[in-house]
Amino acid sequence: MNVWKKNNLWLIILIVLVVIVLGLTTYFWRKGNIVYSNEVVTIMKKEDILDIVNRNKYSKTLEVALNSNNFIKDYTKDYEKIDYIEKDNFVLEVNKLLSLNYEADEINVIFKNLSPINLEKLLKENRKIDLAKYYKYANFEVDKINRYEAYSLICNCSLKDVIGKVNIGLDQDFYTNIQNVVVSDDYTTLVNKYRSIGNYEPDDLVYLGEGSKYQLREQAADAFLKLVDAALLEGVNIIPYSAYRSYETQTQIYNSYVEKDGQEEADTYSARPGHSEHQLGLAVDVWSKGYNELKEEDANWLRDNAYKYGFIIRYTKENKAITGYIEEPWHLRYLGEDIAKAVYESKLTYDEYYDLYLKEN
Ligand code: DAL
Ligand code: ZN
Repeated sequence: MNVWKKNNLWLIILIVLVVIVLGLTTYFWRKGNIVYSNEVVTIMKKEDILDIVNRNKYSKTLEVALNSNNFIKDYTKDYEKIDYIEKDNFVLEVNKLLSLNYEADEINVIFKNLSPINLEKLLKENRKIDLAKYYKYANFEVDKINRYEAYSLICNCSLKDVIGKVNIGLDQDFYTNIQNVVVSDDYTTLVNKYRSIGNYEPDDLVYLGEGSKYQLREQAADAFLKLVDAALLEGVNIIPYSAYRSYETQTQIYNSYVEKDGQEEADTYSARPGHSEHQLGLAVDVWSKGYNELKEEDANWLRDNAYKYGFIIRYTKENKAITGYIEEPWHLRYLGEDIAKAVYESKLTYDEYYDLYLKEN
């Protein structure tokens, strides 16, 4: 190859390289500067915002707002800074938050961190709330912020504990602020002194074996019989002495205890009607066979093994302040094997476990 030809080859290679570099630069430059479509620019003109908009920086939120019937001109600069989220009513929600004086950055954080339920609550609040310190607690509820703040002043505990306690209801007296709950199809309904199931009646009660006068919901009854058999193999002989109780039965029992011991004391060991797990058909009280009580060794076996059959010991000594009941080692609550195991391993009361892991939030 002569020198002329060699130089020409180098020149061609150089030109090709320059073309590639220029092409790539233009491609990436254009990519970072998506311009709005002509239709959108026409709407911008009509709205008289062309001089406000940063037309070198594309904002999907602005485009969607302009294409909706809910565009508000004063919010143009904010729309540009808010990350777009594909969902119904996005622009309306953004408008509402902007009208409550949340900054664009705060709105991005809100959409990123709040559950749909909490977002709905926030939009109903009609005031700006500083949520920054709450985001890391997945169980916090926007409509309880005032109670968290008030309880923080008297609880002398961490924000995590404040949130957990207020969510259960413990910042207020037992049997105040009662929520009526709908019993779920699974076996997880939480009932306590703040949650009532009204006059609910299960529709799948069965007797605990032939000749038994005690009933539970079918799946709980099967599980209970398995537990009894397993216990027997290990020398633990337990029998039921109370299981399903209707609203009426619970009323009679509770009233008789109130008559005997007074309401304050009765409340420490008997649930008011509508508030008992027995009414769910998912709780059974057991005694050691041949005794009118549960022997300590049998209670220990239940404490360590009941979860394997889907039951938890619902009322323990440690949890009195949360449940409001004295220790009841004989009271077994059916939850199903998976949840009973998880509650057992968590070492939490069911009230706390439910708030952290099961409630819709
Ligand atoms: N003894 C328990 C608390 C009940 O009455 O349901
Ligand atoms: Zn009981």
